Amino acid sequence: MSHFQYQNGVLHAEGVALPAIAEQFGSPTYVYSKAALLENFRSYADACTGRDALVCYAMKANSNLAILDLLAREGAGFDIVSGGELLRVIAAGGDPGKTIFSGVGKTVEEMKLALEKGILCFNVESIPELHRLNEVAGSMGKRAPVSLRVNPNVDAKTHPYIATGLKANKFGVAFDDALATYRTAASLPHLDVVGIDCHIGSQLLDDAPLLEALDKLIELIDTLAADGVNLHHLDIGGGLGVNYGAEGDKPPVPVGDYLGRLFARIDAWRLDKHDGKPIKVIFEPGRSIVADTGVLLTKIEFLKPGVEKNFAIVDAAMNDLMRPTLYQAWMGVQPVVPREGEQLTYDVVGPVCESGDWLARERDLAVEPGDLLAIMTAGAYGMTMASNYNTRGRAAEVIVDGDGVHVIRQRENPADLFALETMLK
Ligand code: LLP
Repeated sequence: MSHFQYQNGVLHAEGVALPAIAEQFGSPTYVYSKAALLENFRSYADACTGRDALVCYAMKANSNLAILDLLAREGAGFDIVSGGELLRVIAAGGDPGKTIFSGVGKTVEEMKLALEKGILCFNVESIPELHRLNEVAGSMGKRAPVSLRVNPNVDAKTHPYIATGLKANKFGVAFDDALATYRTAASLPHLDVVGIDCHIGSQLLDDAPLLEALDKLIELIDTLAADGVNLHHLDIGGGLGVNYGAEGDKPPVPVGDYLGRLFARIDAWRLDKHDGKPIKVIFEPGRSIVADTGVLLTKIEFLKPGVEKNFAIVDAAMNDLMRPTLYQAWMGVQPVVPREGEQLTYDVVGPVCESGDWLARERDLAVEPGDLLAIMTAGAYGMTMASNYNTRGRAAEVIVDGDGVHVIRQRENPADLFALETMLK
């Protein structure tokens, strides 16, 4: 059940009416539901009960400290892609020992920081990265735990910008080169080869490509074992999609079903080839943990009838929510207090000076200036991808817990935006 529902004709987040939030905190504001967040995380955690499994939340989806803290308290680990994200994990009370570090371009400084803090594993994406990590670890008198991100060349059947497991992508080590790359890794004195990982893409509605990728990892793990490289964990990445609600959209496979099928395959393989000895399994979900926990609350400033189109100009813009313009993503738009009366077809656009500044296109709405709209399913890759384009302060973020509202990030002031800048003397 969604935690964003109409009660007496007014859209609520849990027990709180969204107009009350707009009145108190202004708009645009990201509004999250704590119950939704916990429910989503627990759908992973419950499916992992009794197993050696770790859910490393891909915090690029939403890295607010309050969100990280709530997930850390539930036992989550984290998937990071920068030193900055590691500092966030620590600031939020997360455990570096449950943190894995993904990404193709880790700097020397980032590697040092991660080694100092004792992360669980580096997900390495290339041979030059292996050599750099080996040197950095050696210079610190440490050994770096390493997993190789293997590119299984599986078609994830998603938007090309968010498909990552094909040969043409910059990510990972090609499947055919994996064995040689593992041999290189195993030969380096300051690396401990501990795992294998992949991430084939995002917003996957079907788990078939994920299970196909799993089969390829399994094959490789056995080939490596025959070659004397024994891995302790298998990380299948993230990628499970959510329902954005566009007409005709297929609902995503439920988390529990996907994990059930995945564990069944792993168990059968371990029984068949490894005397039933389990292997640790890691997941890196982002979107499926946070997307439907948040909405972007925005106010209509003006209605502008046009020759070809009608525009609803709102106070949120592409800098607040990049997904529509960047991926032509369809996001649901709901009037916070729906009106009776004739609907017109609107493009919902922001005040930024770009034709690409749109949040939704061709939506039938009965609205007036001053009305509030909720852009739905905006909890993932919303605030984390926001920018200050046009010197617009980023939106406030609040989290609703039952009848209570907590500010988890204040709205930015314009003065904050140029505070780091200096003029020539
Ligand atoms: N692990 C790795 C290595 C990743 O690159 C990603 C996402 C994830 C895990 C989490 O994937 P998820 O479970 O969220 O699908 N900004 C785009 C999505 C980019 C995803 C990038 N990588 C969007 O708004 O659709």
